[in-house]
Amino acid sequence: MKERDHVNKQEIVEEAKEMMKVFLMEAKQYIEASFEKELWIETKSSRNDLVTEVDQYIEALFTRYLKQYFPSHRIFGEENAEHKVESLEGAVWIIDPIDGTLNFVEQKRDFAISIALYMDGIGEYGIVYDVEKDDLYVGEKGKGATLNGREIRKVSDRRGVADSLLIANLSAVNLYPKLKEAIRVSRGLRLYGAASLEFMAVATERAGAYLAANLAPWDVAASKIIAEELGCIVSRLSGEEIDMLEKGTSVVALPKVYQELQNLYLKK
Ligand code: IPD
Ligand code: CA
Ligand code: CA
Repeated sequence: MKERDHVNKQEIVEEAKEMMKVFLMEAKQYIEASFEKELWIETKSSRNDLVTEVDQYIEALFTRYLKQYFPSHRIFGEENAEHKVESLEGAVWIIDPIDGTLNFVEQKRDFAISIALYMDGIGEYGIVYDVEKDDLYVGEKGKGATLNGREIRKVSDRRGVADSLLIANLSAVNLYPKLKEAIRVSRGLRLYGAASLEFMAVATERAGAYLAANLAPWDVAASKIIAEELGCIVSRLSGEEIDMLEKGTSVVALPKVYQELQNLYLKK
């Protein structure tokens, strides 16, 4: 492919979609082939914080595509020490090559590739690809979101906690113990083990909210774009905006659920 001079955001996003088609096809093939062999797996910060050769390969593969399509863009990624950024100035791609690595290793399902394009700090384009289901969620700033090419409808602004399933991790409940009461009055608790897919559960209204502590920028960067395009509210549990350079807590929720959580259950 010849290098092109991308003059505006729209042109970049259109080119990005082309890149994503070929990248995701190759990534899926590689991941499926990996199911047939024994994986090299290493622990990181703890015995359940894993990295496999597949995580590293997918991030490296994406890097190769990016260098070809957008050589001047920067990468902020989980698995390569060189993929760190100090600012979100210009065009920055935030990648989690496999979100839900424990699921990938233990279950071979419920994991996703999550990639977002931020330009001067604004999320312009994000994809979450559930590899095993072959479900591709795409969000584009100001243009809504699609699942496998079909427009996803906006979320309800009438549904509250009592009408919704909630997704929460234990660390979030420990930080905000009143969440136990929210879970009690809700339709029940779920947790799937891949932040990006939990975001997609809320964005497609299968759940009313996902509340989590200890998420990294690459866990939420793409999903936030998609969820916001569909009318969900995304913030830190405290209500503050998410800083895409820092780890921290996150909530994504339907608008009414979000208000109820903030008013009743996320107060210290
Ligand atoms: C993890 C998953 C998990 C969340 C963790 C993340 P990883 O991502 O999204 O659901 O609870 O905080 O680190 O390590 O599998 O990419
Ligand atoms: Ca992750
Ligand atoms: Ca990961």
